[in-house]
Amino acid sequence: MKKLIAAASFTAILLVSCTPKATTATTAAGTATSTSEQIAQGKTIFENSCGKCHKLPDPASHNPVQWVGIMNAMAPKAKLTDDQHQWVYDYIISVNK
Ligand code: HEC
Repeated sequence: MKKLIAAASFTAILLVSCTPKATTATTAAGTATSTSEQIAQGKTIFENSCGKCHKLPDPASHNPVQWVGIMNAMAPKAKLTDDQHQWVYDYIISVNK
């Protein structure tokens, strides 16, 4: 009986410690996988899609971490695909130095 209780509480600890953490805000975070062609496409999409509702934002006005959140909010507004979201993010970061 003691063994069973020990086993049960061990399982409970395992379950708690294995709960997935809320990470990975976007696929864009920190991955520099876009080619220069994709970054050029990101620039075009940015210039065509991101100045419609407000002035075209200045990439230097926010840091890369802030841009992850902004792009998560703005990509759906601009109706970007996941790829376009990634390319625009990578373009912004490429000129955000
Ligand atoms: C359909 C309209 C629309 C489109 C398209 C759009 N935005 Fe926005 N954007 C807004 C509105 C509305 C706000 C202000 C309210 C808010 O923060 O949701 C905003 C705010 C912002 C801000 C300020 C956020 C802050 O925290 O200071 C930035 C930067 C921005 N947008 C970038 C972009 C980029 C980059 C794109 C292109 C991918 C884009 N927006 C496309 C509507 C749009």
